Amino acid sequence: MSPAASTAAGPSGAAARAAAGTEGSVADHAVDHEPVLEAHGVTLDFGPTPALRGADLAVERGEMLAVMGPSGSGKSTLLHCLAGILVPASGEIRLDGTRVDTLPEAARSALRRDRFGFVFQLGQLVPELTAEENVALPLLLRGTRRSPALATAREWFERLDLPGLQGRRSGELSGGQAQRVAIARAMVTAPDVLFADEPTGALDSLTGERVMDLLAGVAHDHGTTVVLVTHEARVAAYADRMVLVRDGRVTSPGEPAAPATARAAG
Ligand SMILES: Nc1ncnc2c1ncn2[C@@H]1O[C@H](COP(=O)(O)OP(=O)(O)O)[C@@H](O)[C@H]1O
Ligand SMILES: [Mg+2]
Repeated sequence: MSPAASTAAGPSGAAARAAAGTEGSVADHAVDHEPVLEAHGVTLDFGPTPALRGADLAVERGEMLAVMGPSGSGKSTLLHCLAGILVPASGEIRLDGTRVDTLPEAARSALRRDRFGFVFQLGQLVPELTAEENVALPLLLRGTRRSPALATAREWFERLDLPGLQGRRSGELSGGQAQRVAIARAMVTAPDVLFADEPTGALDSLTGERVMDLLAGVAHDHGTTVVLVTHEARVAAYADRMVLVRDGRVTSPGEPAAPATARAAG
């Protein structure tokens, strides 16, 4: 479970291409063109508010997919459905072709623990724990003993250029440092899919770019599939592909907002 020793922090892959101003291309990137995660006709309401109205999406293995769209369009709700946090009212979520939205909560919880990593806007580190305990936490929750879990966490501090910060609590970290710790925590279990919801939303643009360089670099090095929700074009530029969410439905750039079945052939 410990991350590959060859991993190096810093610009690479899509990030380097974005930095160089070249188009991100899937051709030189370990993308399978085989969906790892799919949403089919997903609907979900919050009381009287329809958040998703027939969302279709296929995330290919190894790609970084940017999900863009205006505030309130349903991006976070779609991410939460894909990640098994929310259960759609109708439609399907499939992981490796198998339905997961119908699983009981305990099984979805195990899926989140064992297959997924999460980075949110504000890091959401556990304030009572040190930075390295935060990074070790997903391993501890899986039953790894404390000492090897902390040893693996410490490797990530070197890798993500966070030396000397292991003992700090979240209140003693800058926003950028907290997000780097959050990336380490999300990657420490070598997840199949990393979900990032506005990971740079609370950062200034330079810090945001550094965080994205890091996120894109480690995901690329590990072949991790990334679902990146953002409303910032410069953040979406790190992705291999982009889709738009509007009024609870998914379209590709240039496509009109479409009914539930329109993307199925794409
Ligand atoms: N927990 C919630 N309770 C009530 N309404 C919600 C909740 N979460 C989201 N919504 C509503 O669902 C819609 C989609 O929200 P969301 O998925 O958060 O959009 P986005 O991430 O694109 O900004 C919005 O109208 C929002 O107000
Ligand atoms: Mg959101």
